[in-house]
Amino acid sequence: MRMYRGLLFDLDGVLVDTAKYHYLAWKEIAGRLGIVFTPKDNERLKGVSRMRSLEILLEIGGRKLDRKAKEQYCEEKNRIYLNHIRRLERSALLPGVREFLRDARKKGYLLALGSASRNASLILDRLELNACFDAVIDGNAVSKAKPDPEVFRKGAQALGLKPRECIVFEDAPAGIEAAHAGGMRAVGIGSREGLPEADGILAGFAGVRIEAVEAMLAGGDGAAGNPAGSGFAFGEGSPVGQ
Ligand code: BG6
Ligand code: MG
Repeated sequence: MRMYRGLLFDLDGVLVDTAKYHYLAWKEIAGRLGIVFTPKDNERLKGVSRMRSLEILLEIGGRKLDRKAKEQYCEEKNRIYLNHIRRLERSALLPGVREFLRDARKKGYLLALGSASRNASLILDRLELNACFDAVIDGNAVSKAKPDPEVFRKGAQALGLKPRECIVFEDAPAGIEAAHAGGMRAVGIGSREGLPEADGILAGFAGVRIEAVEAMLAGGDGAAGNPAGSGFAFGEGSPVGQ
């Protein structure tokens, strides 16, 4: 049975394979600052704003910088990131994403982007994804970064829906937390180990249709609160996802 009317998507790491470019850019900045920065550390940066990411990096390295220096490092990080993004092609879209979005839209779901990135419009343009969304809320439209729910609340509002009518798709723990804080169900894109608080897990969108996501969420405990491990998981190759 259909329970939801709106779908809110994070961008980096959910729709497009850009999370690796954020990592590479921060890794370069970390090197310049003499900070050792591992892929595990990078998990803390996922989903959070550019400035907050730098602050976490400085925390990891036990370093302090004044406001002006922080702004310069953020600009530099973005310059490195944009060099990668310039080469982004339609193929950077993660498998099954375009089909999932088109199919859900055809079935009458409203779709919004809810991303911390200030580069979201640029990326949507490059991937020719703009037409898929009824609303786009990005890092330029919010004042509080995930795990604050602002980005998803604004997304639901822009669609004219209540939070409980929306499903959020997220690859970052901070994003799952933001969805829950906003009163929405959250589907994690990735693994159960990485996203223990998600209401359900998808390995990716390949072969997945919205009905299977609805069924997955209905099959969880369905009650208020989202205890770790309560959601079901499926993804590529799973019969329920075909
Ligand atoms: C999020 C990414 O989507 O956007 C973060 O997960 C990133 O890694 C944040 O820091 C801000 O992105 P941008 O493009 O404005 O630097
Ligand atoms: Mg993300």
